[in-house]
Amino acid sequence: MKKQATLVIIKPDGLKKSLTGNILTRLSESKLKIIGSKIMKVSYSLAGKHYTHLKDKPFFEELVKYITGELHGDNRVMALVYWGESAIEKVRKLAGATNPEEAQPTTIRGQYGRILTSGLFENVIHASSSEDESEREIKLWFSPDEIAIDLYPAKETTVKQCKERVWK
Ligand code: TYD
Repeated sequence: MKKQATLVIIKPDGLKKSLTGNILTRLSESKLKIIGSKIMKVSYSLAGKHYTHLKDKPFFEELVKYITGELHGDNRVMALVYWGESAIEKVRKLAGATNPEEAQPTTIRGQYGRILTSGLFENVIHASSSEDESEREIKLWFSPDEIAIDLYPAKETTVKQCKERVWK
């Protein structure tokens, strides 16, 4: 069977509720390898690109507020790349249905998700839905050197006059 990579994002509610350990334990049931991981804050630009397929939905703006942390007053997310056989399907199964009320109670979204009064699904994690999407998303969230294997073709480039924040 084919090895795949899949992107997982533990969303701000997961970090605010100290659920990272529980979620990583559940995901370890998949026996997949973690080949990338980081805690980061999500910019509006990244959020918009990540959820570009939902731009026309009425809940899009609130969804962006959710993933950027504005909704929870906690702007941390944990981004992970899992790698192995049928990784996408295995992680989606452990994650459960998009709607936490419809998700099996033993899945991550079934255990820890809820629906906000606004109707938004506060479903704790993101998991890529297809191979095309996982490649698009992983390239959006990670650079080649942040991933422990050579996942996709990469090239070296000289970056000139590029602003970067460094330690004082
Ligand atoms: P989507 O990409 O359709 O689902 P999934 O995350 O399972 O791949 O939707 C992205 C997120 O948008 C989803 O995780 C929660 C939110 N969402 C809602 O709040 N309401 C909705 O009706 C849908 C479809 C999604």
